[in-house]
Amino acid sequence: MDYLKIQGIKSLNGTIKISGAKNASLPLIAMTILAKNSVHIKNLPNVADIKTMLKLLSNLGAECEFKEDYVVVNTAPLKETKATYEIVKTMRASILVLGPILARFGHCEVSLPGGCAIGQRPIDLHLKALEHMGAKITIKAGYVEATAPNGLKGCDIIFDKITVTGTANIVMAAALACGETTITNAAREPEVVQLCEILNENGVQIDGIGTGELTIHGTCGKLIDIKEFSVIPDRIEAGTYLCAGAITRSELTITNTQPKHLGAVLAKLEEMGSSFTITKDSITIHPSGTIKPVKITTQEYPAFPTDMQAQFLALATQANGVSIIEERLFENRFMHVSELQRMGADITLHGNIATVVGKTELSGTDVMATDLRASSALVLAALVSDGETNIHRIYHLDRGYDSLEKKLEHVGAKIERLKE
Ligand code: UD1
Repeated sequence: MDYLKIQGIKSLNGTIKISGAKNASLPLIAMTILAKNSVHIKNLPNVADIKTMLKLLSNLGAECEFKEDYVVVNTAPLKETKATYEIVKTMRASILVLGPILARFGHCEVSLPGGCAIGQRPIDLHLKALEHMGAKITIKAGYVEATAPNGLKGCDIIFDKITVTGTANIVMAAALACGETTITNAAREPEVVQLCEILNENGVQIDGIGTGELTIHGTCGKLIDIKEFSVIPDRIEAGTYLCAGAITRSELTITNTQPKHLGAVLAKLEEMGSSFTITKDSITIHPSGTIKPVKITTQEYPAFPTDMQAQFLALATQANGVSIIEERLFENRFMHVSELQRMGADITLHGNIATVVGKTELSGTDVMATDLRASSALVLAALVSDGETNIHRIYHLDRGYDSLEKKLEHVGAKIERLKE
């Protein structure tokens, strides 16, 4: 198993190129199941979750070919309709194949993902919506079995809660359904928007893209022709490197980004004392004097993302004063707190609210990554810690950060990947 050794440093300087968004790529790969042609996808990030998604499609019979700067996915030979436990247990987002496979083949089995480090994460809303569209769903031996021998039918779906992968799943199912599907309380995340835009550009009319109410005009089983596309940049990776700039009080430029996707993150960094130069596709964060404390509540897009909560918590340990961070989406998403405390952070947890008293001097030690974004919080803390930090179990980090240690090393961090 690999681990990261990080030497605390004073400051970083330079430019980091942001990779394609993991959370956009996953549904877009699943979307190829709706295509009748080979789909060319550019700007996929080189991260473990993408490899897992492509492996899942290959196991089902699709052909995935890696070219120099794009991947070709051909789902014409796809015949198998069961996503097995072996794959789903490594990546919950495997559930994204349920909607498109069911819509195309009238049958799909997916292992139940189960809970995960950050909370229960049920899929009841995905299943309820598919039932509404006419699917018969049974749960047996740890698998969801969905059948719709006569195809799916458009209908009105109201999500009780906003769900990102739930919205993506139902949009894809609705793309091949007969008639119109309306989704009320749909997710508005840029990753969902890109999925809708690509379907819309390729023959599935979708109204209301980017709003909380989507209407999908299904093709009634007709597969679609999907032209080459490029995945949007990863806003969470971008936000993480902006936090690296803020915590080390450095000048860092991130390129290949879409600043408009980072509104809530930039607003909180600004409140904490950072300033920026922003172009159409780059952001330069300038060194701040002192870091100010902040109040953050995680919510659905366009509000502050839960996927940036851990990184801001690390940053708050270096703010002068008391920060309050409330997690509204996942009940157990504070696993990084105990590791940050071991590094010297003063954090108190009351239910879903963390109170961070800063500024604390952090010291390097051995810490354990517990989930994807928790891992990046530990990296940020390590960058300003006294001495050396060893971050273990970085397979969590590898799920979603493309070449993290190379990108940070390039801007001056002392970081190495080593074997346990
Ligand atoms: C996606 C992102 C993840 C991000 C999260 C919230 C991907 C691959 N992952 O996860 O990085 O942290 O959105 O922005 O895009 N819920 C239910 N029932 C359901 C579905 C969800 O109760 O059927 C609840 C969840 O437990 C959670 C909330 O709804 O409390 C939001 O979850 P959801 O948006 O579905 O998260 P994911 O799509 O799994």
